[in-house]
Amino acid sequence: MTGSGGGLLEGKVACITGAASGIGRASALLFASEGAKVVVFDRADSVRETAEAIREAGGEAIALTGDAGEEADVSGAVATAQESFGDLHVFFANAGITGTARGGFFDSDAENWLAVLRVNLVGAFLAVKHAAPAIEASGGGAIVCTASVAGLRSGAGPAPYSASKAGVINLVQTAAQQLGRSGVRINAVCPGLIETGMTAPLYENARTKGVEDRIGLLNPMGRGGDAKEIAKAALFLASDMSSYVNGQALAADGGLSTSHPVTRPPGQAKR
Ligand SMILES: NC(=O)c1ccc[n+]([C@@H]2O[C@H](COP(=O)([O-])OP(=O)(O)OC[C@H]3O[C@@H](n4cnc5c(N)ncnc54)[C@H](O)[C@@H]3O)[C@@H](O)[C@H]2O)c1
Repeated sequence: MTGSGGGLLEGKVACITGAASGIGRASALLFASEGAKVVVFDRADSVRETAEAIREAGGEAIALTGDAGEEADVSGAVATAQESFGDLHVFFANAGITGTARGGFFDSDAENWLAVLRVNLVGAFLAVKHAAPAIEASGGGAIVCTASVAGLRSGAGPAPYSASKAGVINLVQTAAQQLGRSGVRINAVCPGLIETGMTAPLYENARTKGVEDRIGLLNPMGRGGDAKEIAKAALFLASDMSSYVNGQALAADGGLSTSHPVTRPPGQAKR
C-alpha cells in the first residue's frame, strides 16, 4: 500500500487509459493510493506526470503513450502490465473524446462519427478483448468502462458522442454475458457533468460570463461533479467491494439522470 488509501486494490495491477487528465488521472492516483501498481496510458505525453505523481507518493507506475482506439497499442498496454508487474487485475477503459462540434445534428458528418466511435466505443471493445484474457489468467478481476449520462438518453452531448456512450453501455452488458464464469466482471460508470480537460471550455466560458452557478442548475444536488468523485465510483467497480455487480451502468451524476425536465409550480421551489 502506498499511502492514504484503505488498500482496496492491495496486490493488484491496474491499467487505466486516458490517464493524463481528468477522471483517468484522478483514478490512477486513487487506485495507486489503494495499493495498485498502475500502467497509465494516454495519447498525451503528459501521462508521464501522472506516473511521476504516483511514484512521488510512494506508489508504482509505468507511463505508456498510445492510442486507445488502436488494437496494437491496447494489446501493448496489457502486455506491459503483465511483463512489468506480472499480472493484470483491473482495466479501466476511460479514454474518450467528444469529437468536433461543427453545427448541429444535420451538419455532423460521417468522418466525425467514425472518429468518435473509434476511440469511445471500439476502444472499449479492444480493452475488453485484450484485457479480459489477461485478467482471467491473473485469477480474476474487473473491467470498468467510462460511459456517460449522455449514453442513457440524448441531450447531454453531441449525437455521435451520445451514441458511442450508449454503445459502451450495451457492450458492457454483452461482455458480462460473454465473460460468464471467467472471474472477470465488467461494468460502466456514467459520469454527469465533471470539470476536466474535456469540459474546461464550458467551465471557463461560464466563469468568464459570471454564470458558473448555472452549471448545476438542472442537477438535484445543485452542482457539477469533481473527477475524484468519479474515481471513487470507478474504484468501487474495480474492487471486490462490487463483487456481485456485473454488466451494470452506474450513474455517478448527482441524480441528474433520474428525472425528465420538470417545471415546478410556484411555491414548490427546490431546496
Ligand atoms: N467530463 C465530463 O463531464 C464527462 C462526463 C461523462 C463522461 N466523461 C467521459 O470520461 C472520460 C474521461 O474524460 P475526462 O472528462 O476526464 O476528459 P479529459 O479530456 O480530461 O481526459 C481524457 C483523456 O483521454 C485521452 N485520450 C483521448 N483520446 C485518446 C486516445 N485515442 N488514446 C489515448 N488517450 C486518449 C486524452 O488525452 C485525455 O488525457 C471520457 O471517456 C469521457 O467521455 C466525461
